[in-house]
Amino acid sequence: MAALNIENVWKKYGNVIALRDVNLDIQDGEFVVLVGPSGCGKSTLLSIIAGLEDTSHGTLTLGDRDVTDLSPKDRNIALVFQSYALYPTMTVRQNITFGMENRKVPKTDQDKAVADVAKLLQIEPLLDRKPGQLSGGQRQRVAMGRALVRDPQLFLFDEPLSNLDAKLRVEMRTEMKKLHKRLGQTIVYVTHDQVEAMTLSDRIVVINDGVVQQFADPDTIYQKPANTFVAGFMGSPSMNFIEVEVTGKTGDITVVHHGEGEDIAFALGAARDELVPCIGDTVTLGVRPEHFRPMGEAGQTLSVNVDVVEPTGPDTMVVFSIAGKSLVGVLNAKFRPNEDDQVELSLSMDEACFFDATGTRIPGLGE
Ligand SMILES: Nc1ncnc2c1ncn2[C@@H]1O[C@H](COP(=O)(O)OP(=O)(O)O)[C@@H](O)[C@H]1O
Ligand SMILES: [Mg+2]
Repeated sequence: MAALNIENVWKKYGNVIALRDVNLDIQDGEFVVLVGPSGCGKSTLLSIIAGLEDTSHGTLTLGDRDVTDLSPKDRNIALVFQSYALYPTMTVRQNITFGMENRKVPKTDQDKAVADVAKLLQIEPLLDRKPGQLSGGQRQRVAMGRALVRDPQLFLFDEPLSNLDAKLRVEMRTEMKKLHKRLGQTIVYVTHDQVEAMTLSDRIVVINDGVVQQFADPDTIYQKPANTFVAGFMGSPSMNFIEVEVTGKTGDITVVHHGEGEDIAFALGAARDELVPCIGDTVTLGVRPEHFRPMGEAGQTLSVNVDVVEPTGPDTMVVFSIAGKSLVGVLNAKFRPNEDDQVELSLSMDEACFFDATGTRIPGLGE
């Protein structure tokens, strides 16, 4: 195990800048998830860490070694591919020992390594089977086992669950988490799935267009997103963004959305005095879908027009509009308005975020 430090890393492919000045300090034993839209640079960063790609600029330190110029095999890093990367004609045992055979590890050491890893991953009864006779989850564990016998300092995963069906994905997510808890290995895990990022990670790196947008624990990412990109990317359905003008005075701030034919005022009181410097400016109010509640609960009352109602089972997703602005709410399953109804909703403003004209979140007082 080891800490990984990434400093001022840039990657250019001709005219394409895939990574711009990436700086990440990953702790020993930490489970870090890289998340971002397709093409944002996740795989490039992983390949650079593994040594499969050179950096255009910057330094990588693993433990106490500068590994920037080391070849992949000298870095002691395991890249765990998807389960289909197992050799189909070999048994599980042969798949696990294959690398050790090549390195001419003595047979007794091989047997011991397989026994240890099989016990840890609970695949002892499977050792003589072929990959075709395993479930997806079992195959994933074998792929892990093959990496583990090398005792790497760092594990890298690139979208390992993306080819699995929804149910198996959720199972494997739990397995990954349990395994990390047991092994305590340093893991860098790439996904484009924000739910995977939220549930697996100790910390999340959100990347967009080759630039790290935020590196923080899941709660911070969700509740205090650095900017509108992070706020919009993490969470499904996405955060609602509403343009508002900041009015009022210290201790009595109100923000107003100038809608179609109607102004909607959101009273904030003293709690949002961080907006005092923005009085007179237009800022973006960010409201998560779950911050809308059925009428009667604490919060600001809004009279809205129901456009679409989508029961999801545990919740009801409602698309509604107010002064011509379309918004999404996720409410209790018992809340079932009819489409085209005029209903009242409560909006809890306690958890609302505000973003300045550049899209950067305006920190709360004392943050
Ligand atoms: N070998 C390459 N040559 C040229 N451009 C590349 C190469 N690999 C990746 N890119 C570009 O770098 C950017 C980041 O790609 P990638 O890291 O694969 O994104 P992600 O894994 O987040 O989907 C993309 O614009 C992609 O087209
Ligand atoms: Mg990729």
